[in-house]
Amino acid sequence: MRSISDISFCRALVLTTLFLGEYSIAVPVDCNRPTSKTAKIVIVGAGIAGIGAARKLLKQGFTDVQILEASSQPGGRIKGSLFGKSVLDEGPQFIHGATMKNPIFRLATECGLLQEATNNSGTDWSVFTNTQKQLGPDFVETLRNLSTFLHMQAYLQIQNNTRLKSIWDVYEVGINELIKNWTDDSPNVRSQKLGGLNLMMKNECAFFATPNLHDVSLQQISEYGPIEGGDRNSPGFFPKLISCLMEDIPREKLLLEKPVKQIQWNENFESCDGTTHPIKVVCEDGEFFLADHVIVTVSLGYLKGEADTLFHPKLPEEKLNAIKSLGFGTVNKVYLEYEIPFWENSQHWIGLLWEDETPFSGLKPNIAEWWRRIYSFYMLNPVERYGHMLLAWSSGRETEFMETLCEEEIASNITRLLRQFLGRPVPQPKHVFMTKWFSNPYIRGSYSHTSINSTGDMFDTLAEPLPQEKGDGHLSEMLQVLFAGEATYRRYHSTTHGALLSGWREADRLINHYSIFEGQQLQTKHVA
Ligand SMILES: Cc1cc2nc3c(=O)[nH]c(=O)nc-3n(C[C@H](O)[C@H](O)[C@H](O)COP(=O)(O)OP(=O)(O)OC[C@H]3O[C@@H](n4cnc5c(N)ncnc54)[C@H](O)[C@@H]3O)c2cc1C
Ligand SMILES: *[C@@H]1O[C@H](CO)[C@@H](O)[C@H](O)[C@H]1NC(C)=O
Ligand SMILES: *[C@@H]1O[C@H](CO)[C@@H](O)[C@H](O)[C@H]1NC(C)=O
Ligand SMILES: *[C@@H]1O[C@H](CO)[C@@H](O)[C@H](O)[C@H]1NC(C)=O
Ligand SMILES: *[C@@H]1O[C@H](CO)[C@@H](O)[C@H](O)[C@H]1NC(C)=O
Ligand SMILES: *[C@@H]1O[C@H](CO)[C@@H](O)[C@H](O)[C@H]1NC(C)=O
Ligand SMILES: *[C@@H]1O[C@H](CO)[C@@H](O)[C@H](O)[C@H]1NC(C)=O
Repeated sequence: MRSISDISFCRALVLTTLFLGEYSIAVPVDCNRPTSKTAKIVIVGAGIAGIGAARKLLKQGFTDVQILEASSQPGGRIKGSLFGKSVLDEGPQFIHGATMKNPIFRLATECGLLQEATNNSGTDWSVFTNTQKQLGPDFVETLRNLSTFLHMQAYLQIQNNTRLKSIWDVYEVGINELIKNWTDDSPNVRSQKLGGLNLMMKNECAFFATPNLHDVSLQQISEYGPIEGGDRNSPGFFPKLISCLMEDIPREKLLLEKPVKQIQWNENFESCDGTTHPIKVVCEDGEFFLADHVIVTVSLGYLKGEADTLFHPKLPEEKLNAIKSLGFGTVNKVYLEYEIPFWENSQHWIGLLWEDETPFSGLKPNIAEWWRRIYSFYMLNPVERYGHMLLAWSSGRETEFMETLCEEEIASNITRLLRQFLGRPVPQPKHVFMTKWFSNPYIRGSYSHTSINSTGDMFDTLAEPLPQEKGDGHLSEMLQVLFAGEATYRRYHSTTHGALLSGWREADRLINHYSIFEGQQLQTKHVA
């Protein structure tokens, strides 16, 4: 029965006579109309969104799927790098919401990747100040309580629908509230608490991938929907997941080092076999691919720089505005490997607190003292796998600047910093490795957020397929350019599961489209 959709019937005849068992009926078949088997689909980008979309389309019987990836490996922001003894994550390492409600978690189970849970053997969280004081668990708890208070203020304010407020606007009021109760504290304790709050601000900037909490809309907090189950720290997991997913995608479907230069759409491009297609995807090397549909999965950072020239004709104003307004910032990881550890086995995390910083002053970009953004160090476990390894985070303009420095410079500064705060000898690291997400020409940052200039609707605007206005229902005119990727998934933007779901969403859009169309053809046949 499905042979009605077979292109071979259609090549020669416009009116095809089909013999279907006892029936003999005439059905008009439009040769130019692709079907699920013949539709030419190009996917730009082999991150988890692109891979997810390709895998789903292939499973549903779409055979003409081509992924074009600019870099030399699949995975995009999911990237592992061999360093020291093991593979380290340059990008994600947490499964945000470790339950079967999270599609990443489900795939992890299918791929058999979940046996390995990380063993956080250390339990000791300590804060050191720039005046060599060690503040123990009590202080860390005080800091936690202060942040809980601020988070609550933010949640309460959301209900007031104050979309022009930034997260900082709420925190500022909250911190002033808190300070009122610090009347019994000595000046030292006060500056420790303020420095501690600034440490927390740096942490939140890293979390939201923003230089500054002024830049993040309060809406961010209600736009992002957490999945229950907590965060599962899974070092090394994500690159393995990519390998597992790639097993279902035939090699020839993925072209690496194939950057796309332009996506021409809304045209009639004729291919050598005489079929016409609305899209031409032109690569940097001049090679091009005609297609009926293209799924664009490039990062928001890349779109911010290239959207104007990547699409011809240009994207609608509304989409360009969403691209400009939504936030996309940088967070980087710095891995430091030591010959001999200078920390105790029990230590899990150390934070660096500047007593001369307050949240009121400390959020301004300070590139000249970029090391102030390196605020915390995690001890990686187990030692048998990683050696003596620390993981530090940094964010903002400072981290973007750090990407221009050589690793020795970063290492020597971090050593100076650690010596100053710990007040004792600290060896130079054996190796340093820092991620460079901002200077990656095909990513240009880390992930998205609702910036002060944007609203959550803009994630949806980014996701809308083109052309916007419905054509006359002719298949080749609809759903030409589709958009997937982390920043197109409103509820779960900035995550791997958001990216994956966005790829599935666009694959489903095409699957549904063709099942309706092919269904109509079958109906036409019965009517005839
Ligand atoms: C440091 C860091 C930590 C993170 N931590 C977490 C975490 O703990 N948990 C979590 O869930 N998420 C985390 N994330 C976010 C997560 O990594 C991303 O949301 C997700 O991987 C994005 O997938 P994607 O497919 O949308 O985009 P990408 O992975 O960016 O894929 C897009 C692909 O398009 C390619 N491309 C770009 N331009 C072109 C072109 N012109 N032609 C061809 N190809 C092109 C790029 O090379 C890239 O491979 C983190 C990200 C970073 C950077
Ligand atoms: C985790 O660490 C504890 C204590 O060091 C140890 O007993 C246990 O075997 C470890 N588990 C794994 C899975 O490595
Ligand atoms: C933190 O908050 C909890 C719960 O309100 C409280 O029991 C605890 O005493 C507080 N700790 C500190 C150090 O303030
Ligand atoms: C919300 O707005 C109302 C009216 O402006 C105000 O009274 C209330 O305090 C606000 N809620 C919070 C949590 O600030
Ligand atoms: C300040 O202290 C008073 C009295 O103990 C308490 O009711 C109030 O909640 C405290 N305010 C903050 C912001 O913690
Ligand atoms: C918001 O828009 C204003 C005006 O265009 C601009 O100056 C500012 O940098 C933008 N802020 C962010 C966080 O994008
Ligand atoms: C730290 O970085 C600065 C500027 O980036 C550089 O001049 C200096 O040599 C580095 N090393 C130390 C130990 O400060």
